[in-house]
Amino acid sequence: MCGIVGYIGSQNATPIILNGLKRLEYRGYDSAGAAVIDGRKIYLRRDAGKLQQLADLIAKEPLNGAPGIGHTRWATHGAPSARNAHPHIGNEGKIAAAHNGIVENFLELKDELAAENVRFDSETDSETIVQLAEREMADGASFEEAARRAFKRIEGANVILLLCADEPDKLIAARIGNAGGVVVGLGDGENFIASDIPAILEHTRRVIFLESRQMAIVAKDEVRIETLDGEAVEPKIHAVAFDAVSAEKGEYRHFMQKEIHEQVRALTDTLAGRADFKEGRVRLPELNLTPELAKRIQRIYITACGTAAYAGMVGKYLIEKIARIPTEVVIASEFRYSDPIVDENTVVLAISQSGETADTLAAMEEGRKKGGVIWSIVNAIGSQAMRVADGYISMQTGPEIGVASTKAFTAPLADQYMLAILLADLRGTIDDATRRQLVADLRLVPDLASKVMDSEPEIEKLAHALKDIKNCLYLGRGINMPVAYEGALKLKEISYIHAEGYPAGEMKHGPIALVDEEMPVLCIAPNDPWREKMISQIQQAKARGGKTIVIATEGDALVQSMADYTLWIPNAPWMLSPIISVLPLQLLAYHIAAIRGLDVDQPRNLAKSVTVE
Ligand code: AGP
Repeated sequence: MCGIVGYIGSQNATPIILNGLKRLEYRGYDSAGAAVIDGRKIYLRRDAGKLQQLADLIAKEPLNGAPGIGHTRWATHGAPSARNAHPHIGNEGKIAAAHNGIVENFLELKDELAAENVRFDSETDSETIVQLAEREMADGASFEEAARRAFKRIEGANVILLLCADEPDKLIAARIGNAGGVVVGLGDGENFIASDIPAILEHTRRVIFLESRQMAIVAKDEVRIETLDGEAVEPKIHAVAFDAVSAEKGEYRHFMQKEIHEQVRALTDTLAGRADFKEGRVRLPELNLTPELAKRIQRIYITACGTAAYAGMVGKYLIEKIARIPTEVVIASEFRYSDPIVDENTVVLAISQSGETADTLAAMEEGRKKGGVIWSIVNAIGSQAMRVADGYISMQTGPEIGVASTKAFTAPLADQYMLAILLADLRGTIDDATRRQLVADLRLVPDLASKVMDSEPEIEKLAHALKDIKNCLYLGRGINMPVAYEGALKLKEISYIHAEGYPAGEMKHGPIALVDEEMPVLCIAPNDPWREKMISQIQQAKARGGKTIVIATEGDALVQSMADYTLWIPNAPWMLSPIISVLPLQLLAYHIAAIRGLDVDQPRNLAKSVTVE
């Protein structure tokens, strides 16, 4: 959600902030702003809409100085407008704040401050932070002490970055709870602060991540980390592996298109060093999975949101089939309300691209409270979901910028497949030949994915034919049932076309009433154990006049004969088929949205990292 960038050093902060915010655009926002110090005075520019509007405003009314802070806002309290955009400045004009999260007790704080004649200029909860800090300074506190006292008063999950006109030699950032990350980037005579790594990658790859209830006091030559209670923290400095170039669009029109194609490489990287094709074994060292632990696991909960949850549904099939451990998928926002049965023999496995999704982190916390073993499959290196887990598998896909997840669906499928093999191996429930065959099958995956990419022109042609549809049903069965959910989600989130994913067998229990000539029905019918069942589902849709678009395995003439349109995929081992069958659906959704001229990478109302509950 909201993006935050800060700079302290001897350069003009404004271009650094605007560039940084640009790289955070993928997080989703509806207004933007920046504030810098020039001669012990804070100057501010804010506007509703896209960053370009802010850049245009700054071109007309230049903003020069340092340090500076910037923000892209995803509205929660108060409409997207220039007045509600961040940074906010206190009544005294001394402190400016950029904020991500929700100040849950803001009404109470607002009343308290209003009783002291503090005037609020916005409708936001965020403004209370800056007004609180200014009040503390008016009472004689230093900037650092005032910031600390303000941070300690606010409730809820929040990330805050402050700038002070009276003490321009430092910026102060804090992280409280799971409202997203704070990354401090270490430069030479200058330092950077951001809510996510891509914002500062062009300047440095040496970073520090703040933990919850920590604050960073960042000067140009020094960074101090403390808890909100004032205890010094020795920070761990991480070297970020991916470079700024992998966060660029390159030859592609949109990040989403680039990321769909990148899956070939991402899958190769995901397997590298983990699938040992010579030995026919899997190694996942960061998971800290011992034979003793593997043997005592009695139940696995997979918890995640959106695309990550659909990936988890495929994982359930894989873990139950290969490792024979009862596995349940619970949507993360529901996990803590379902009173899950977790003990020391239960694994709570969270899947998250960002590693910052508030609901997923809350589910992990719930699992931890109940004494479970906490694992995660995460893409963002150093993210909270990676750090708080007992063990993790990193997706190794590189940054995913498009709001619609693509790489972060297929990589966890490969990860969970490997996890299932490893569990079965350590529990001694798989024979040597089966294990070797399962591992060998993995080797085929990047190549098979690459073949699907070759059919992009075909898929684009179909997208032209479908661009004006109003609805679409996606049907799948067995291990490919979650692919129907994922295909429908891709279409709805970027093209705004109503689409529903359904277990194909459920059609006859209600949804088939929707099928007529106006209702395209997309059936995922590869060469898997549910193909025959899917054939009868295709026939049922056809008999009601529905237009059938079918994902079929190359050469499957029978399935083709029933379809109005066939999208071919190469033959894949069935347990790996979801990795392949989802690819044409990603491409189809992408091209429909692109043809409709929509903002593919930043669809309306959506944010890349959902850091509020
Ligand atoms: C998928 O296209 C969405 N952008 C969304 O469903 C996403 O997968 C979900 O918000 C979870 O995000 P995470 O993987 O970063 O936790």
